Amino acid sequence: MTGPIPVVRPRRLRATPAWRRLVAETRLHPAELVLPMFVREGAREPNPISSMPGVVQHSLDSLRAALAEAAEAGLGGVMLFGVPEDAAKDARGSGADDPDGILNVATRIAREEAGDALVVQTDLCLDEFTDHGHCGVLDADGRVDNDASLERYRDMALAQAEAGSQLLGLSGMMDGQVAAVRDALDAAGRTDVALLGYSAKYASAFYGPFREAVGSSLQGDRRTYQQDAANRREGIREAQLDLAEGADIVMVKPATMYLDVLADVAAISDVPVWAYHISGEYAMLEAAAANGWIDRERAIAETLLSIRRAGADAVLTYYATEVAGWLGQGRF
Ligand code: PBG
Repeated sequence: MTGPIPVVRPRRLRATPAWRRLVAETRLHPAELVLPMFVREGAREPNPISSMPGVVQHSLDSLRAALAEAAEAGLGGVMLFGVPEDAAKDARGSGADDPDGILNVATRIAREEAGDALVVQTDLCLDEFTDHGHCGVLDADGRVDNDASLERYRDMALAQAEAGSQLLGLSGMMDGQVAAVRDALDAAGRTDVALLGYSAKYASAFYGPFREAVGSSLQGDRRTYQQDAANRREGIREAQLDLAEGADIVMVKPATMYLDVLADVAAISDVPVWAYHISGEYAMLEAAAANGWIDRERAIAETLLSIRRAGADAVLTYYATEVAGWLGQGRF
């Protein structure tokens, strides 16, 4: 005679905070968080970004202070974005490879301020610097010209390496961009500079607040170069291409709407896989929390943990310094 089927009791391991901590499969750690930062040309004060409460366009002084905080918090690194004055923009994005362009100036300051405490990273894309706001240069018919854009990326890479960037974030979604930039750096003897491929980057409505953050001049959208939200397999293909071209790290972006793609890429990648929790994802959490509709801290921690659980080794997030502070206090 057999008795009743015994109840299987997974709840045993959830009984107390100590149990839950002991059996947690995924954790957050400050070293796995990267803080994106905006630096505005000519700013004397940090300038709030209304659609991203708590995030600012930095002046050079406030950049220094925020870098010191980031280092103190034990973050893995910072990703810098330049916000040039409108008058500094042109069709080819000349400010991008000008040593006096705002991003290159900010990079030198960041290296000086951060020393070896943070990995200083830069967005390698033309959109902040072009008067039309696209990630590349345009051909006679107004279309984004892939191969002409690669020539600009090569120059931009050399300028960023020269300014001291340690990891170039290739976010333009031009075909062949990783190979082109690797070739330019190696030819210049800069084999030391690493490349982060924004490999599976989707054309997303959730970049909305970023447009305000960088004072974007874009009319229209980026659907002819960024990926279509409908496509999962294509995300793996893009990552494989970047790996074959020599990317040191690959990334999926946005993060929470693309956790399936993130898990797929994590399963095939032999280099670190990162995810970018982007401006619109941040804005949604902030808006809901400001209305009292969600518990802000728990929602943020759960979001970042979910991104890690899906397969991200590190996360770019505007919450990086704040969350590192919570982790330092033993919360989450
Ligand atoms: C391109 C770039 C973008 C973001 C990071 N790099 C904008 C875009 O591709 O349209 C978005 C980041 C965010 O929304 O937080 N320079």
